[in-house]
Amino acid sequence: MPTDQKPPFLVIGLVPPELRRALAEHYVLVDHIIEGPDALPAGEAPRDTRVVVTRPVLGAPPEIMDLPDLELIISFGVGTDKLDLEKAKSRGIEIAITPDELTEDVADFAIGLFYAAQRRIAEGDRFVRAGKWIGGRRFGTSRRVSARSVGIIGMGKIGGRIAEKARALGMTVRYHGRAGKPGVPGFVDSPVELARQSDVLILACAATPETHHIVDAAVIAALGAEGIIVNIARGSVIDENAMIAALESGAIAGAALDVFDNEPDIDARFLKLDNVVLSAHAASATEETRAAMVERLVQAALDHFPKR
Ligand code: 8YV
Repeated sequence: MPTDQKPPFLVIGLVPPELRRALAEHYVLVDHIIEGPDALPAGEAPRDTRVVVTRPVLGAPPEIMDLPDLELIISFGVGTDKLDLEKAKSRGIEIAITPDELTEDVADFAIGLFYAAQRRIAEGDRFVRAGKWIGGRRFGTSRRVSARSVGIIGMGKIGGRIAEKARALGMTVRYHGRAGKPGVPGFVDSPVELARQSDVLILACAATPETHHIVDAAVIAALGAEGIIVNIARGSVIDENAMIAALESGAIAGAALDVFDNEPDIDARFLKLDNVVLSAHAASATEETRAAMVERLVQAALDHFPKR
């Protein structure tokens, strides 16, 4: 039951209802949503806020980070690219995220996106629905998935799991990151060289200043006309204009994307391209992962405010 001893939790992001329900069993939630069509100004959030609930793609803008009494930020996911971690550390603000819970499902989704693009599954679905098959048109061929060379950018937990799954499916794995991982063969120290050696590039890195546009026009050119890009990281890690130009001209074969520069209002040019699989930032959104994420974050709140 909510008690007056605990401060209200200020919800600033469009977080899923299951998180709201679970937190509301223990705390009072107050909405001051600063994203979406009915967004309120971040600068008008209550000054005495101690706890903020958000999600990774929103994070906490400076007006929120600077709230004088802020002591806990609960963020529904793993990415911390929109949170000022240095400021949080210097001010002693605790950040509660879900570092492990979504690894398995996001890695699965990356593999699924690769299948969808390489085997043209989504494109085939559109072909059948459009009545073109009945109409006698030939759908044509795709390329085999196993035996492909996978290049993973970002060999963290998710990248590592993608690598294990890809190897189990018969693919060769190479990777790029800040440095090679001890005991993990296949490190390539330039993204261009990794692209040159890969049939598919999978983006699984954190969004940081170093990874901004890590896939640029040169990397895309090196991937080549048979190449496919899969992104389950963040839109910012790819030069989206360069990728769209390459998809339009056939300089690469395809892409399968769960994340974009401007979500959810994505670049309209994507909608016209048949060689792109589009997904609504859904890689982590399984019932199982969501439940585990909610449990972790509720526990973090309970640990922060132990029962009196
Ligand atoms: C979120 C994500 O979990 O965790 C992240 O960093 O990008 C997502 O998988 C999802 O958007 C819910 O906030």
